[in-house]
Amino acid sequence: MKFAIYPGSFDPTTNGHMDIILRAARFVDRLVVGVLENPYKTPVFTTEERVEQLKQLTSDIPNVEVMTFNGLTVDFARSIGANLIIRGLRAVTDFEYEFQMALTNRNLANEIETLFIPTSAHCLYLSSSVVKEIALFGGNIDDKVPVIIRDALQAKYKDRRIK
Ligand code: PNS
Repeated sequence: MKFAIYPGSFDPTTNGHMDIILRAARFVDRLVVGVLENPYKTPVFTTEERVEQLKQLTSDIPNVEVMTFNGLTVDFARSIGANLIIRGLRAVTDFEYEFQMALTNRNLANEIETLFIPTSAHCLYLSSSVVKEIALFGGNIDDKVPVIIRDALQAKYKDRRIK
């Protein structure tokens, strides 16, 4: 059985993440989206909010589940019996970081393979950070995130918006 995890911060989930989830779900039997509880970052959305959003967004994909994890990605994969890590690759700027992470994970857990999925062209320069910055300044993010994320982000930034 091809059992994969797709780990990330998902703060928030973008159309780029959804593109990778949908495409990965087509060629693995089971896909667990792993939401990192990162103690070193202060996310805009709480872990619970991010998990709930992803659950809503993937509710009609039968082989996708959403879980949280903390600690090492490979330990999370091992703990649930997954042997694949899915990561999306955007522009060449992603490459160094992603390659380093893949090799580090392989060094830590030789039995777990990383599989890169090249982003779709319309998501090439799309990131959670860019989305948050645009939303903070009141810009339009309609083509960058699912509707529930747009509404949640606009609600978060309602009182903080800089004009
Ligand atoms: O969405 P992101 O922030 O690019 O995801 C990064 C993530 C969560 C995949 C990465 O930070 C990670 O794997 N963190 C867990 C700690 C870990 O396993 N580190 C070793 C690999 S470098």
